[in-house]
Amino acid sequence: MSIIALHSAEASLVLEHGRDALLWRHLGLRVATDGLPALATTRGAATFSLDDDVPFATAPGLGWFGPLAVSARGRVLRWVVEDVAQTADAVRVTLADADTGLRLEQAFRVVSGGFEIAASLGNDGPVPQPIDHIASALLPLPAGLDRILSWRGRHAAEFVECVEAMPEQQWRREGRRGLPGHGGPPGLYLLGEGAGWDQGLALAAQLAWSGDAAIAVERDDEGRHLLSAGITDAITLQPGERFDAPPLLLAISGRGRNGAMAQMHAMVRARLPALGPRPVHLNSWEACYFRHDTARILELARAAADVGAERFILDDGWFKGRNDDTSGLGDWTPDPIKYPDGLTPLAEAVTAMGLQFGLWVEPEMVNPDSDLYRTRPDWALHIPGSPQPTARNQLVLNLSLLPVEDYLFDALDQLLREVPISYLKWDHNRDLAPAGGVGQVQGLYRLLARLRAAHPDVEIESCAGGGGRCDAGIAAFTQRFWTSDNLDPESRVAIQRGFQAFFPPEVMGAHAGASPAHATGRRHTLGFRAGVAMAGHFGVEMDPAKLPDAEREELARWIAFHKQWRHLLHGQTLVMGEGSDGLVWQASGNGREWLLLVTRTSPPQDRRPQPLALPFLAGVGAITATLLARAGTTPHKGFGEPAFLSDLSDGVTFPADWLAHAGLPLPPLLAQSVAIFHLKA
Ligand code: GLA
Repeated sequence: MSIIALHSAEASLVLEHGRDALLWRHLGLRVATDGLPALATTRGAATFSLDDDVPFATAPGLGWFGPLAVSARGRVLRWVVEDVAQTADAVRVTLADADTGLRLEQAFRVVSGGFEIAASLGNDGPVPQPIDHIASALLPLPAGLDRILSWRGRHAAEFVECVEAMPEQQWRREGRRGLPGHGGPPGLYLLGEGAGWDQGLALAAQLAWSGDAAIAVERDDEGRHLLSAGITDAITLQPGERFDAPPLLLAISGRGRNGAMAQMHAMVRARLPALGPRPVHLNSWEACYFRHDTARILELARAAADVGAERFILDDGWFKGRNDDTSGLGDWTPDPIKYPDGLTPLAEAVTAMGLQFGLWVEPEMVNPDSDLYRTRPDWALHIPGSPQPTARNQLVLNLSLLPVEDYLFDALDQLLREVPISYLKWDHNRDLAPAGGVGQVQGLYRLLARLRAAHPDVEIESCAGGGGRCDAGIAAFTQRFWTSDNLDPESRVAIQRGFQAFFPPEVMGAHAGASPAHATGRRHTLGFRAGVAMAGHFGVEMDPAKLPDAEREELARWIAFHKQWRHLLHGQTLVMGEGSDGLVWQASGNGREWLLLVTRTSPPQDRRPQPLALPFLAGVGAITATLLARAGTTPHKGFGEPAFLSDLSDGVTFPADWLAHAGLPLPPLLAQSVAIFHLKA
């Protein structure tokens, strides 16, 4: 027997090379493995069990009664280890089933402080092999976990956090809409007893896939919990064919949710295309919806440049026949009435204002009322003989068809070659019915890869009616996610916190929108709207020219503020937490310097805010805390604003441990406000 171990800074993955299998020994906090006795010598017999023990292996076979890594219709797969290749931070196992000719490769890698776990299945046999299920990962969970955090959501209400107990039987989160949906990526957090933001055992996992997938936790009859994750579509492997299952990103930390989140962010960052400084956006959608033409857009872009925006995005409504959401999708040429000279002079004029020019597209969609559909109705996903359900009046193109992929590549490539476009907002505004399966996602990834190769400097944003397609699969091709169509800052606080459980702030599209908020009708001060958007990749979703002068100047100040501090907000280590009396906070920084955002959505219950403990500062030395800004509500005249800590505006130095454990004194915060601090060691 030999022990195979991979170690991240905080965790270990330990396997034992048994007779025909790789057996699981440990996945959890970091352990030493020197002199470890063989599993067989530490495992007693159990009654009513097979005479030959079948312990949990990476690819379980006959005699294992738990979940399988691969199930192929009507077959019992008898995996035999063919090869194990190990480097310092990776193990690759090849297993073969002699009867079918199936060959399974499992890869375990230490990546950016976490583990990336993947599987790939090939058919080296002579006949096609229908595969019901292939798990990307099938893993033992460490003991002592007691909660599952997962997220659900709908359009304009993304990332609603749910907390459940570890199951006595089975827990499963499965997406069936053809894209991850508004509950976020196929993923979860698992927390140990007593674990919180900063302490205790925490695991975070997400499958890097933009289609249907399931992640499940099951208690086996030995009392252990197992995690499995993978696509849910059945596939057929032709002789010679191979399928690469999407990887699972797995974070394991003894430092609570923040520890697991930091690893998850690092793993996602390693998949993202390179990111420069995140330019401040102005997006045209809520400023003018479908009602625009060259003159209107130039006016809006001028207003954007005047307040300091750096990239202008022309949203929906620019292409042929697109005056509302009933027509035009599929025909990716400028509308001849709104844009008689095309987009090139417009984009050049916008660029001449010092703004980058971005464009909205929804390539996977087609309206029945479009030239494309009239010529190629067969290109839409459909079940022959069945009605085709539309959503927002649109159908979905079948991206597994090469001519469809080529058509979309050519249309987008031509736009990107002719017009100085630096950015595509890539939307997807419906669920898939019928489903497109694995081929749809693979077609999308191929199309994105081709466009990125042909136009490496063009950035892409993943949007699906807001945050309906946020996942680490598409993140390999995109630099931003549109987090939600809900710009109400009160709603956004929770949405953004859920998003950041899986993705770093620099890819979180966050805009200051209009008041009242278009999605909820609620009114908020500009300061609160901007203060909440400050946490992400900042933008504006309104027409600054329509604001009263004082507000327009305030907006310009918030944009300047974001530019001044984005080096601390983006690409750094993020920590989150909760204060007393309903306060939430997040801080982002580099270990010496941080920007701290303290947010209150509902009115305080307590007479005075309690000092805010910031555990991440423990042991840093001395910290100078400066209150940079207070954004949001002020009390009605006559009600009187309590005096706040004016000293903090000039910077006060505290022992870091004081701030970690006794806490930072806070100014009084009314409902709907944000206090922004600079912390410097
Ligand atoms: C989706 C997006 C919006 C906007 C519209 C355009 O809803 O989330 O931001 O682009 O489509 O139709």
